[in-house]
Amino acid sequence: MSVQVPEIPTPLVFEQSRPGRRASTFPAHGLPVPEVPPELARGRAPRLPELAEPELVRHFTGLADRTFGVDTGFYPLGSCTMKHNPRMNERVVSLPGFRDLHPLQEEDGAQGALELMWRLQEILAEVAGLDAVTLQPAAGSQGELTGLMLMRAYFADRGEGGVRDTVFVADTAHGTNPASVTMAGYKLEKVGTDARGNLDLEVLRERVNERTAGLMLTNPSTLGLFDESIEEVARIFHDAGALLYYDGANLNAVCGISRPGDMGFDIVHYNLHKTFSQPHGGGGPGGGPVAVRGKLEPFLPVPAVVRDGDRFRFDYDRPKSIGKVRGFAGPFGVFVRAYAYIRSYGPGLRAMSEAAVLNANYVLARLREAYDLPFDRLCMHEFVLSARNLKRDHGVTALDVAKRLMDYRFHPPTIYFPLIVPEALMIEPTETEPKERLDAFADAMLAIAREAAVERELVKGAPHRRPVKRVDEVQAAKRAIVRYRFDDHPRLSGGPAPAAGAAVEAQKGA
Ligand SMILES: Cc1ncc(COP(=O)(O)O)c(C=O)c1O
Repeated sequence: MSVQVPEIPTPLVFEQSRPGRRASTFPAHGLPVPEVPPELARGRAPRLPELAEPELVRHFTGLADRTFGVDTGFYPLGSCTMKHNPRMNERVVSLPGFRDLHPLQEEDGAQGALELMWRLQEILAEVAGLDAVTLQPAAGSQGELTGLMLMRAYFADRGEGGVRDTVFVADTAHGTNPASVTMAGYKLEKVGTDARGNLDLEVLRERVNERTAGLMLTNPSTLGLFDESIEEVARIFHDAGALLYYDGANLNAVCGISRPGDMGFDIVHYNLHKTFSQPHGGGGPGGGPVAVRGKLEPFLPVPAVVRDGDRFRFDYDRPKSIGKVRGFAGPFGVFVRAYAYIRSYGPGLRAMSEAAVLNANYVLARLREAYDLPFDRLCMHEFVLSARNLKRDHGVTALDVAKRLMDYRFHPPTIYFPLIVPEALMIEPTETEPKERLDAFADAMLAIAREAAVERELVKGAPHRRPVKRVDEVQAAKRAIVRYRFDDHPRLSGGPAPAAGAAVEAQKGA
């Protein structure tokens, strides 16, 4: 006999607050209370939740239990490269010499950190097949903007600034590409994809001209396909005097195998947090260094990290530099982890990409009969399937498949991207997954395709086994409640109401 256990609501932390409760107490400090000018002093104490330590620990542990991460299970989020983060990286980034270093430490006392940055620059330049690197940008998207600012500075320096006003972007591009082009003040021109998943060469031959500043492209593309005409693409742009920008979000496919610089790209950004592991997601932390060909080096942000014999230092003496794009020298902790990841592979970095490509092709081979495959080619580190066959035959969409995967304890792949594939499911296993895990995932995807045919409602109502069930996507997007409105907050958790007057009291106690 199965016993139904009612679901226990999870109250918000503010709903659990009771005036005067504390998680910790500090000894009286006896320090003078600083005088704050009245115009700067806040009118009332901040409304902080008041909880005893056990309840506080339970609250946050409970939230952690409800979330899903790479340490919980398989996370094949295409284009986001969610690979295992080796614990060794966390260990080295916590070494006091790195952890406690102040960004304003004088160079003599920070030689180790500067050397690490310089060595990382050297490795990244080699991986890209280009000449110089800045580590400053804090994310791929900021790397994009920085790269386009470099493009702008380069053409301005040549007296072509007013003429070259257009940048081409592929229709498979990540949304940040067109956004960066627009932010950098360029006109955007979209270029389509042909039947094999390559850039449409005819369109490029027709439209690239003396007004073109450049192309932004990721290769392999977000379809997981390596552009078979990349040399011809580069020729078209270079013949017109334009530059090629490489969005390195998919670099995990090609490290040590092919280099963007050899393909003809002049500017490259890396997503350190993807390719070289990093606990990322939810907006950070990230690193988006940029590599360039020698002719663009004078425009790189300051300070550059340079080596003079056995010494390392910051070089600010770059009169043509576009200036600073981030505080201090960039996201240093990210550099340490990326460097540790790279060094753990050593000269065998190629093995990383080969395993990533092999894993993706293995999963693709197992799924190709059950889902539509819009571009039937060997893939690189990721691939894009379409659930349009399930939608056509059973009314089951990519979103339904994604939600049902959560019942099988897998993180969904990226869905509905790239935009040119209807009902897209973009799957990126990464190199850090064993065959058993890949098989379990493929089994789940195949089971869902079967369920779509025989138990449609099961798939459409999923997830059934997660703490948060199917949400109203429209309401969630249009009426997101992102802050606690003390006096009239809707009881979203279904938990107990706050004690009478608790919110008001909380202000005094805080
Ligand atoms: C293809 C591609 N380009 C650029 C970016 C932007 O990188 P970031 O999230 O680090 O800003 C992403 C992020 O997912 C991406 O997938």
